[in-house]
Amino acid sequence: MDDSTIFIVGANGQLGTALRAQYPGAQFADINELDITSAQSVDAFDWSGIDTILNAAAYTNVDGAETAEGRVAAWSVNASAVANLVHACQKHGMTLVHISSDYVFDGTKKPHTEEESFSPLGVYGQSKAAGDLVAATLEKHYILRATWVIGEGKNFVRTMLGLAEKGISPSVVADQVGRLTFTSELVRIIDHLLTTGAPYGTYNATNDGTPASWAEMTREIFADAGYNSLAVTDTTTAAHFAGKEGVAPRPLESEMDLQKLHATGFESRDWHDELRAYIAKEKESIQ
Ligand SMILES: NC(=O)c1ccc[n+]([C@@H]2O[C@H](COP(=O)([O-])OP(=O)(O)OC[C@H]3O[C@@H](n4cnc5c(N)ncnc54)[C@H](OP(=O)(O)O)[C@@H]3O)[C@@H](O)[C@H]2O)c1
Repeated sequence: MDDSTIFIVGANGQLGTALRAQYPGAQFADINELDITSAQSVDAFDWSGIDTILNAAAYTNVDGAETAEGRVAAWSVNASAVANLVHACQKHGMTLVHISSDYVFDGTKKPHTEEESFSPLGVYGQSKAAGDLVAATLEKHYILRATWVIGEGKNFVRTMLGLAEKGISPSVVADQVGRLTFTSELVRIIDHLLTTGAPYGTYNATNDGTPASWAEMTREIFADAGYNSLAVTDTTTAAHFAGKEGVAPRPLESEMDLQKLHATGFESRDWHDELRAYIAKEKESIQ
């Protein structure tokens, strides 16, 4: 694929960083170069030569979105900005690849299919659902539903490794269940859909493999990283957040059904294998 026709928005985030590595010839911007929340800026931008916008920008602070300021920011980046990009895509005939989340659901069903109705619990999920709705108005769109994204940046695996480094035996929630989505897998999915010309639409886009709770994952992280003397205690989401103000409600079931993605010929990687490789790399970079 000629990657000079690709434009990456939100290029400095976890996914944006991985996309830049995959498409070194792509043009890209973060908020300093292009503020996608400004309809005027997006409209005035020179989109000539661009076929595809990869939107990796988002307001991802789930609890921050419950504050007065965060609510505005979440809606602005996760919904209004998507409308601005959709408008530019319509005007210039571009395809939009947009990333969605398990947080558009309340987590009472499993696995989540692409047909499930929206039922977001908190402001982040509501703003992401609005972004999905507007992205789907464009004919040439891919909406990819990811869960628990792990790449270059602040993420759950790095947080747990940080605790382990300090010798902390944590208590971790055991009633939220899902799979990790490594940015490497998300990039492979995006590349597969674009290069095979798969039908436009919404696709669940996580790694495959047996789902696990955050607590089970932490045990696996500690075992893979060799912190065998540290214990992980199970707790519940309710107990973990008890007495804390401004915490967003979280979906408990995040497992996504991958059949639609697999029907396009995509072969998923198991998150357990990717986790092992990720930890080996992390340990190498510490030494
Ligand atoms: N992280 C997860 O666990 C998770 C789970 C499911 C789905 N997702 C979705 O996956 C996608 C990628 O997530 P991620 O983990 O890579 O997020 P991330 O690391 O938080 O990156 C998001 C990027 O968007 C940038 N951004 C924010 N506002 C912007 C604006 N107005 N214009 C341009 N860029 C802007 C951010 O810049 P600043 O850092 O400067 O604000 C950041 O670099 C998002 O759509 C997210 O909703 C994530």
